[in-house]
Amino acid sequence: MSNSNATLTVDGKDYPLPIIKGTLGRPVIDVAAFQEAGFWTYDPGFKVTAPVESKITFIDGGKGELLHRGYPIDELANNAEYLEVCYALLHGELPNAEQKTDFYEKIRKHSGVHDQLRRFFEGFRRDAHPMAIMVGVVGALSAFYHDGLDVSDEKHREITAIRLIAKMPTLAAMSYKYSRGEPFMYPRNDFNYAQNFLYMMFATPADVDYKDNPVLSNAMDKIFTLHADHEQNASTSTVRLAGSTGANPYACIAAGIAALWGPSHGGANEAVLEMLDEIGTVENVDEFMEKVKRKEVKLMGFGHRVYKNFDPRAKVMKETCDEVLGALGINDPKLELAMKLEKIALEDPYFVERNLYPNVDFYSGIILKAIGIPTSMFTVIFALARTAGWISHWLEMHSTPFKIGRPRQLYTGQARREFVKLEDRK
Ligand code: SDX
Repeated sequence: MSNSNATLTVDGKDYPLPIIKGTLGRPVIDVAAFQEAGFWTYDPGFKVTAPVESKITFIDGGKGELLHRGYPIDELANNAEYLEVCYALLHGELPNAEQKTDFYEKIRKHSGVHDQLRRFFEGFRRDAHPMAIMVGVVGALSAFYHDGLDVSDEKHREITAIRLIAKMPTLAAMSYKYSRGEPFMYPRNDFNYAQNFLYMMFATPADVDYKDNPVLSNAMDKIFTLHADHEQNASTSTVRLAGSTGANPYACIAAGIAALWGPSHGGANEAVLEMLDEIGTVENVDEFMEKVKRKEVKLMGFGHRVYKNFDPRAKVMKETCDEVLGALGINDPKLELAMKLEKIALEDPYFVERNLYPNVDFYSGIILKAIGIPTSMFTVIFALARTAGWISHWLEMHSTPFKIGRPRQLYTGQARREFVKLEDRK
C-alpha cells in the first residue's frame, strides 16, 4: 500500500515512515516507527490522526463533499430512501430491486421489541430526557438477544445490524410516548420506515383512521439519510473503540448514543433551537453575535472539524426546510431568525476567517419542530439515523483482524516520590 516514505530523524538516525495513499483524500503517514525511535505522537482531539482505514464514507471538507460508498449525499437524500442508504452503508452499494425487497422485509420483521422491554421504560421518571432512556434501553437489548452476541460469528453480527436498524424507530417513539404518558404504538406492515416512525410517535390507539402525511414522512426519511453516517466522528469513533474490546454491538451502540448526546456533537440540534429561543427576535441578533465574538457563547449549528466550507447536508436540509414549511403553510419566525444568523455568519470576517458555516444541525431543528417533534427528541432522531453508520463501522472493524484501541499519553504529573504517612502529611 505504501509508495513512498517520510523520514523521522532523531539524534542523526533516520526512521522511514511509509506514506500510504487512499482512493480519495489526504495520504497518511504510518507512524509506527515512532515507537522504535522512542516517541509517541501527540494529537489532542485527533485533529490530524487517522486511526483506521475505511471504505464507508468520505468527506472533502474543503469542497463540502460527502460520499457514502461513493454516492454523493445530495443524490442519496433526494433520490433514495433511507433504508436503501442503510443497505449501501452495510453492503457497499445501493440494493437492486430484489435486494431491496429482501432487506426491507428483514427490517419490517424485526421492528418490534420484546414486550418485557416495556418495563425498562417504567423505571424512568416521565420527565427523563429521551436520550437517557435510549442509552439505557439500547444497551439493555443485549440482555434479550443472546442469539446475536457472539461477535466472532458473522451471522450474529448480521442479524444484530438488522435488529438495531429495525428497532431504533420503535424504541425512539416509545421514549417519546413514555414522556407523554401515552400508550406505546407498534409498527404497521402497511407503512414504510419513516411513515412508521411518525405513526408510532403521533398516533394513538383511538386514531383508527390515521393517515400518513407524505410531506412529513418524506422529509423525515430525508433527515434520516442526512444523519446516516459521517466518517470517524466522535460517536462513531466511540463505537469503534468500544467494539475493539470485543464488547457486544448493543453495548457499543449505547456508547455511541452517549457520545452523540454532547452539545458539541449530536446534541447541537437541540442546542440550536434553545439558542434561537434565547435570541428571541431578529432585533437581538446583532447583540448575540457580539457575545459570540467575545466567546461568551458559541453559535450552535455552525462550524465543523472537517468542513471548512458548507456542510452539504445543511444545504439539503435548508431546501427541505423550505419545502416542509411551505407545504404546511408555516411561517416560523425561527426560520427568519436562522436565516439572519446565517447571513451575518457568511459575511462577518470573524466567522469567515474561522470557516464557520452552517452544519447539519442548523436547520434540522426547524424542520423537526415543524413536523411536531419536541426539541428533546432531536438528538434521539440523530441517534436513530446514525445507528446505520455506527453499526456499519462496527461491522467493518470486525471484517478484518483488529487490535484493542489503547491510546498513549504525554504525562506531566508528579515524578516518583516517597510515600507520606497520614500523621506526617501537612
Ligand atoms: C456534528 O464530526 C462530525 O462529523 C460531527 C457531525 C456528524 O455528522 O457526526 O457532523 C455532527 O457534530 C456537527 C457539529 C455540531 N456542533 C455544533 O454545531 C456546536 C457548535 N460548533 C462548535 O462547537 C465547533 O465548531 C465544533 C465542535 C463543531 C468543531 O470544533 P473544532 O473543530 O474543534 O474547532 P475549534 O473549536 O478549534 O474552533 C476554531 C475556532 C475557535 O476560535 P479561535 O480560538 O481560533 O479564536 O472557531 C471558533 C473557536 O472558538 N468556533 C466557534 C464555533 N465553532 C468554532 N465560534 C463560535 N461558534 C462556533 N460554533
